Parts: sequence; structure tokens; C-alpha cells
Amino acid sequence: MIRIVLLGSGKIAKHLYAAFSAQPEITIVQCYNRKGTKLSHDQADESVTRDYTSLKEADIYVMAVSDDAIEEVSSHLLFNDRLVVHTSGSVPMQTIHSKHNRGVFYPLQTFSKTTSVDFKTIPVCIEAENNEDLILLKKLGSLLTNKVHVISSEQRNVLHVAAVFANNFTNHLFTIANEICCDNDIPFEILHPLIQETITKIIKISPKSAQTGPAIRNDVSTLKRHQQLLTDTTQREIYQTITKAIQSTYGKKL
Ligand SMILES: NC(=O)c1ccc[n+]([C@@H]2O[C@H](COP(=O)([O-])OP(=O)(O)OC[C@H]3O[C@@H](n4cnc5c(N)ncnc54)[C@H](OP(=O)(O)O)[C@@H]3O)[C@@H](O)[C@H]2O)c1
Repeated sequence: MIRIVLLGSGKIAKHLYAAFSAQPEITIVQCYNRKGTKLSHDQADESVTRDYTSLKEADIYVMAVSDDAIEEVSSHLLFNDRLVVHTSGSVPMQTIHSKHNRGVFYPLQTFSKTTSVDFKTIPVCIEAENNEDLILLKKLGSLLTNKVHVISSEQRNVLHVAAVFANNFTNHLFTIANEICCDNDIPFEILHPLIQETITKIIKISPKSAQTGPAIRNDVSTLKRHQQLLTDTTQREIYQTITKAIQSTYGKKL
């Protein structure tokens, strides 16, 4: 049995609560958050605390709090020499206060409040200061998914930059596409098959081989027409920057 204290009440805390609760070999002994919020409607009131001094003993303290709060929250934990992990993609493990045995439990996925996830498909990146804790984190991860990776803080930081391009930036581009459709009375759904095929294709062949469009073809008049159409300065700048990046990636072939 692995005993967990889960700190935080945001998106990751709620998804981890659901995933941990579903495992008979994991017990969530307590949750901490500033507002005393329950992480699930069926959670017992007494298992949530707002008080660091009343934290119970556990095998792992999982801090699912904002990146900037990791150092502060870890320093509020009054005990020493217990395994305390954060869930961030980019914060170094050493940010956790040195009185603890430090570790990381980073689920590499995008989590929102309103969407559910299948944890079995999610890679979890783990790191720990000592081998015994690494084995325990491996065991915890393996109860949720078969994709557990031992990744150093340096590798995780690089991975997180890649993830920002793969998810956060593409999502923002989808947002722009949605806005352009809305502004011109076109249903965004008309782009769904294209978006779906874009994702399906880069899993089958490399993203570099999958590139199409006016930038790679260097269709100069189409590129000009598109830019004249974009009245929003930020959208036009993004269009120009990405067009330039595509052209320089394939420059030798044009
Ligand atoms: N969302 C994702 O897709 C995702 C994916 C992988 C990893 N992560 C990582 O998971 C961690 C949590 O992210 P999230 O998306 O769950 O964030 P979130 O939904 O914004 O929740 C942040 C949580 O941190 C708490 N918090 C902030 N400052 C605090 C402080 N000074 N003391 C105590 N609690 C504090 C907030 O408490 P209040 O409610 O009281 O403000 C809230 O419960 C971050 O390290 C993030 O990088 C997120």
C-alpha cells in the first residue's frame, strides 16, 4: 500500500485524486489546500485540511501546486526526511526544500477541469534524489500507467519546451483559426477533419515530411493575399513568423 498526501486543488490535483483513488494499492490519507476544497464530491470532509501543522504521515507528499508555489509549499511542510515530489514539467527538483527527500512525478499530458483523461495512456516522468524513492515513484507510476520514464530535471525542462510547442502553441493556433471562422460566420467544425488528419499524420510520418501549404510551396501571391486579409496585427505577425520558419526549414529544397 502506498500512502499519499495530495497538496493543491487545481486541475492536476483533481485528476491525480481520481487516478489514485481508483487504485486499491494507493490510499490518499489526506489532502491539503488553502481553501479546504474537496477534490471530489464523495470525499470525506475530514480528509481535507487547510492547516500544514495537521498533515498526517504518508509515504509520498505530492505537491500539485503552481510552479511558483513549489518552493514555498515545500518549506511549509514541518517534517524532515520524507519523500516530497512536485508535478511540474519545468521546475528543477532542487527547488523543493532540502530538508525533504526530493522527487518529481510529472504526468506529461494537458489536463483541463472539464475533460477526463485515461491515465493508462499518459507518460509519467519521475526523478528522485535517492534510489529507494525512485523505486517507490516507479511503483506509484506503474499503478497508473505502463509509461513511466526516469527523466532528469535538465531533460524534463527540454521536454517541457518541446511540449509547449506541441500543445500550447498549436492550441493557440487552433484558437486563432476558431476566431477567424467565427468572425466570418463559418462553423469551426468544418476544420475538424483537417485538424484530426494533421495529428494522425504526424504519428504515422515525421512532422517534417507532413508539411504542406503555401509557405513550403512558396506560393507568393497566396501568401500575400492571406496577409492582406489578416487585420489583427498579432495574427499577421504569427503568420509571417511561421511562414518564415517553414521556408527556412525547407529553404534548400525550394
Ligand atoms: N494543467 C496541466 O495540463 C499540467 C500538466 C502537467 C503538469 N502540470 C503541473 O502541475 C502543477 C499544478 O498545475 P495545475 O494545472 O493543476 O494548476 P492550477 O489548476 O492552476 O492549480 C494550482 C494549485 O496551486 C495552488 N497554489 C498556488 N499557490 C499556492 C500557494 N502559495 N500555497 C498553496 N497552494 C498554492 C492553488 O491553490 P488555490 O486554489 O488556493 O489558489 C491551486 O490549488 C504545476 O506545477 C504544473 O506545471 C500541469
